[in-house]
Amino acid sequence: MSEELRFDGRVAVITGAGSGLGREYALLFGARGAKVVVNDLGGSFQGEGASKRAADVVVDEIRAQGGTAVADYNSVVDGDKVIETAVKNFGRVDILVNNAGILRDRSIAKTTDQDWDLVHAVHLKGSFKCTQAAWPYMRKNNYGRIIMTASNSGIYGNFGQANYSAAKLGLVGLANSVAIEGEKNNIHCNVIIPTAASRMTEGILPDILFNELKPHLIAPVVVYLCHESCEDNGSYIESSAGWATKVHFVRGKGSVLRTSIDQKTVSPEYVKKVWSKVTDMTHAKHVDSISQASGYLIEVLENLKAGKSGGIEDTFQYSSKDLILYALGIGASVKNANDLKFLYENHAEFAAIPTFFVLPGLIVSMQTSLVADALPAGKAELTNILHGEQYLEICDDIPTSGTLTTSGKVFDVMDKGSGALVVVNTDSYDESGRLVVKNQSSVFVVGAGKFGGKKTPIAGVIPIMNAPKRKPDAVIHYKTSEDQAALYRLSGDSNPLHIDPDFAKLAGFKVPIIHGLCSFGFSARAVLARYANNNPLLFKAIKARFSAPVIPGQTLRIDMWKEGRRVFFTTTVVETGKEAVSGGYVDLKDSTAKL
Ligand code: NAI
Repeated sequence: MSEELRFDGRVAVITGAGSGLGREYALLFGARGAKVVVNDLGGSFQGEGASKRAADVVVDEIRAQGGTAVADYNSVVDGDKVIETAVKNFGRVDILVNNAGILRDRSIAKTTDQDWDLVHAVHLKGSFKCTQAAWPYMRKNNYGRIIMTASNSGIYGNFGQANYSAAKLGLVGLANSVAIEGEKNNIHCNVIIPTAASRMTEGILPDILFNELKPHLIAPVVVYLCHESCEDNGSYIESSAGWATKVHFVRGKGSVLRTSIDQKTVSPEYVKKVWSKVTDMTHAKHVDSISQASGYLIEVLENLKAGKSGGIEDTFQYSSKDLILYALGIGASVKNANDLKFLYENHAEFAAIPTFFVLPGLIVSMQTSLVADALPAGKAELTNILHGEQYLEICDDIPTSGTLTTSGKVFDVMDKGSGALVVVNTDSYDESGRLVVKNQSSVFVVGAGKFGGKKTPIAGVIPIMNAPKRKPDAVIHYKTSEDQAALYRLSGDSNPLHIDPDFAKLAGFKVPIIHGLCSFGFSARAVLARYANNNPLLFKAIKARFSAPVIPGQTLRIDMWKEGRRVFFTTTVVETGKEAVSGGYVDLKDSTAKL
């Protein structure tokens, strides 16, 4: 058993210690060697009347168990008198547990000024007064442990407790600032959020709970929080029934409401539009301090200034299993010894096929809301958007598992008559903030053209490249399987067009078709196999256009031309002679295979 936590030489003031929780705290502090001031006004739980009996009984109990205690009958509102009792009797104050409390439950409509004022006086003002009175003694000793008592009613609200809830959450605010002010003098202030059977909760809590919620089960938590070995400061600890946990307020990622630093106003309509993002708590985090909170705001403003905001952000989590599934989806097979490193997580050279990293880009670039926002007519739905072209660049080492955060922005919009071409740039960062991959997707929005927009791209839109006129330098054939699309879709693109025969017919195809990015992946595999000895580390970038559908089971012919570190390619469906992937090229970091 670890060493007993003792409080010898320490003076503990427990307010409202004549009953309920306070009594248990006082008994335990007394048993552990502290000199205890048992403060209690001894009134009703509604704050009426006064009596010395409550405090006296507890003092007697402490003394009976061999401890040292004195009674104090002042109201906590006279905090200086409470603390004076401690100083007069024991010469110092080390611990203050602000526990005294009353209830005056009324619905908001019926709450009188007196109900409001009395509850606030006892809980909030009383805790402030006692804390303020104890402060100089604690500062002088360069030591202090203070507890504020909050309540779930304050944190979550409770019918008929508006006055009480407000005061209890006020105590959390009080504790936050006291914790900061006390830090340099080793004065810690923490919050207890108890739920216990007491006269306060009798008749409110159901019997089954009431009988299990013994106040003495919470006392050890408060006592530990007040021990010199406890380093917490500014923590909120909820405890009940022999259970305890830390409680945090968290802040979501939020949404920027301006598209640039030059935009000086925000419209309520825009707020409505991005409301789901404003209220999305998926990536909510605890903020440690007010400076961290404003630090994030500064970051938001700096991003706005740098033109990095106004887009959207999403996270993409993947593991070795996802890499393997993707590799199978684009035809990697254990039949090729050289593919094993893409299919077996314990392989010494286990690695991702680089084109896997189009996926973290797509979760952002294919979001119809992002595309729609960029169009005057604003209409982009799953049924009228087509993936036109894709560019991927590997910027740094690619880990075999992790979480990438992708931020994306519409980069260019062109009016192509029959539709609009929207170019979306995305950057994906790993957990340490390292830029891992860049993607550029061109999305064609059928029927969204003729808005008087420009027809040509701006600089920075990466073009496809025509292959040299000569015969290909190398040709590789890959037969796709009947289940190719069924397998590939498990990597994330679950559009029914690739699996559901009825849906495919509706979309104008005889049967479900293979994903363009699946054929794109096959093409990349061919280049890697032929010109990079299947070494993914040599892969730098890829660009291609999707020009015709491929049906599962058809054979792909990848024609390749090598010029320096660039390998041009086109991918043709052997059965129909139609080019499915056009104008493609892969840039390699270094070429190992000779022509
Ligand atoms: P309790 O009614 O048994 O104890 C409160 C004590 O405070 C009483 O002995 C009362 O005489 C004393 N008191 C009231 N006004 C005072 C004043 N002005 N000056 C000095 N003493 C005064 O209630 P319980 O349940 O032990 O509550 C203790 C604290 O825990 C309270 O602050 C309460 O709001 C809080 N709390 C209790 C919960 C529970 O489930 N019991 C839930 C959440 C918070």
